[in-house]
Amino acid sequence: MFEQISAIKESLQAQKIKNQAELEQFRLTFLSKKGKISELMPLIGKAANEEKRIIGQLINDVKQLAQGIFESAQTELENSGPIIKKATDDLTLPVLPFNQGGLHPLSKVLDEIKAVFFRLGFSIADGPELEDDFHNFTALNFPPEHPARDMQDTFFVRKDEEGKSDLVMRTHTSPVQVRLMQSQKPPIRSIMPGRVYRNESITAKSYCLFNQVEGLYIDKNVTMAELKETLIVLAKMMYGADVKYRLRPSFFPFTEPSMEMDVWWERKDGSRWLEILGAGMVDPNVLTACGVNPDEYTGFALGLGVDRMAMLRYGLNDIRDLYENDVRLISQFA
Ligand code: PHE
Repeated sequence: MFEQISAIKESLQAQKIKNQAELEQFRLTFLSKKGKISELMPLIGKAANEEKRIIGQLINDVKQLAQGIFESAQTELENSGPIIKKATDDLTLPVLPFNQGGLHPLSKVLDEIKAVFFRLGFSIADGPELEDDFHNFTALNFPPEHPARDMQDTFFVRKDEEGKSDLVMRTHTSPVQVRLMQSQKPPIRSIMPGRVYRNESITAKSYCLFNQVEGLYIDKNVTMAELKETLIVLAKMMYGADVKYRLRPSFFPFTEPSMEMDVWWERKDGSRWLEILGAGMVDPNVLTACGVNPDEYTGFALGLGVDRMAMLRYGLNDIRDLYENDVRLISQFA
């Protein structure tokens, strides 16, 4: 009996606890319900009456010894190692700056334009940026070799066997009109946003790529009055009911008559008119080329410059600011 107790005492004193795993092992071996010290308890019952008190006392001593070893090893382990375990443990550190992202000004203005047209019952469509000559020019009433093709400085991508260009980066979103009329029966009422490309020298006013939104409305008896009303609603919803605008006669091969819309640009360094879109009644030649009967249907088309509208909205002077993604500028729109 006494030997059993002192054997446990010896093995306790020989324990060296170096880590959490060993600490837990120690607890299981000695202190748990099935541990060595609990196993000693029945000895009290078996002992002769006059020994019971002494045995009880000895077991209690062993238990306290084990408890003491456990607790001091535990505090020692907790205090070892680096005081700050993770960067977040030091609550006196200044917080990291929280950078909130935001939408690009072009996306914001595009969302506004879409909202206006959705209210007018337009749906949305898109087409490829790499276009063939037919969709970008021929179907839109640009005759072959016609100087009107020079209106838009084109990035020619490929020539066919005869040396004629057959693939171009689209110079406007109007080819999507052609695709819509070819694939869908009137009535058609859609907008077609997208990137377009022009081989122009890069300046504050022009860039090699920019964004347009095409609009097309084809139905029976569509009139010029509806086109004008649509443009005026657009200008008022984008720039306020008191927006100063003007409609000027213009020319496009694919519309007749054609016009352009300017909006008055109030600026400290000299206010001026800014052209924001071209529009007109779809030329009967275009309807025919796209398989729509011009005796049955009429329609209007418009193509607006998203970049110009964004510059107007946010007072930007340089179109390049919209493409260079300088954080100092675009973070102001977050
Ligand atoms: N596609 C023309 C351009 O890019 C704009 C336009 C579209 C004009 C539709 C009239 C009708 O300049």
